[in-house]
Amino acid sequence: MRHKTLLSTFIAGLALAFHIGPAAAADALVARGAYLVKGPVACGSCHTPLGPDFKPIMDKTLAGGFHFDEPAFNTYSANITPDKETGIGGWTDEEIIHAIREGAEKDGRIIFPPMPVPTYNNMSDDDAKAIVAYLRTVKPVKNAIPLAKYNIPQQTMPPAKGLPAPPKSDKVAYGGYIVNALGHCFECHTTAGPHGAPDFAGHLGAGGFEIKLGPGMSVMTANITPDKDTGIGSWTDAQIARAITDGIGADGHRLSPPMAYAYYKNMTTEDVDAVVAYLRTIPPISNKVERTAFQQKAFPR
Ligand code: HEC
Ligand code: HEC
Repeated sequence: MRHKTLLSTFIAGLALAFHIGPAAAADALVARGAYLVKGPVACGSCHTPLGPDFKPIMDKTLAGGFHFDEPAFNTYSANITPDKETGIGGWTDEEIIHAIREGAEKDGRIIFPPMPVPTYNNMSDDDAKAIVAYLRTVKPVKNAIPLAKYNIPQQTMPPAKGLPAPPKSDKVAYGGYIVNALGHCFECHTTAGPHGAPDFAGHLGAGGFEIKLGPGMSVMTANITPDKDTGIGSWTDAQIARAITDGIGADGHRLSPPMAYAYYKNMTTEDVDAVVAYLRTIPPISNKVERTAFQQKAFPR
């Protein structure tokens, strides 16, 4: 009894000291999740379907159906709204977090690639919970999605460690966390190895990964290592930040999709600066990326 009283006095004291009660803490969690999903994590860049004009269909936010038609897989992004029948409304928090960080559903079906599960495997417990708390608040949309077909062997990721994110005061480390646990920059920006998957060990960030946008429309990702001649080593911090948030290259030309510029635009200046500071620290790799004919024609430079 005495213990309980002491403990509750202590907790009440803490809440007073930090001006937070349980409701405020829950609001803070949803706010963090909203920031992550609308900003650096950009789940909607795959999970919100696009109209014929390549713009997201807003009243289908996160309702899935984006088609990936590759030799390795024929899959549609899932409906991750809280709709009970066609979305994830009936899933527990743990089941959703397991899908995001280890890439499997409760029945064991493996759901990646292309979902960047290897990146999300590094996500902190706090951020995973925040994302789920936010997903619970979006409008449920009924949208049944066809089942995926994979022509490659699939493997889940090992159990996520859920380590806390580094403190924001350590700019480079926090930037590394955004890039490697949230933003999946390297899953697009790393050169493909012999089996078509990104070669993280040998070509991290060196670009030249080909992404199909549609028939006859493929693009090459850029070299974002600090190499002075073929990467972004000679760009200023402001130029790199503008490429990320506005989709504009160093010489002022528009950059091509599918990088999630429209989401990265919602990142705080502090977070964008941290990403830039981190990118300066990765090993430079000389790799001149030739943009595809489609890319050069549609986005002249
Ligand atoms: C690069 C594209 C991509 C990104 C980015 C992405 N996903 Fe996915 N996700 C997919 C695809 C495709 C599927 C369906 C795979 C399948 O059915 O085998 C999927 C499946 C899922 C599922 C399983 C749901 C179900 O009903 O099968 C969940 C949950 C999920 N994603 C959540 C998220 C969240 C949360 C984020 C952001 C943190 C995210 N995804 C980012 C492509 C993506
Ligand atoms: C879905 C794939 C994808 C993701 C994810 C992605 N990018 Fe990109 N990015 C591209 C493509 C494609 C280009 C090249 C566009 C062009 O040349 O028109 C590009 C261009 C860039 C450029 C401009 C470099 C240059 O030489 O033109 C920078 C800087 C950049 N990305 C940084 C990032 C960072 C940082 C992240 C993570 C926060 C990221 N990208 C995530 C696909 C992606």
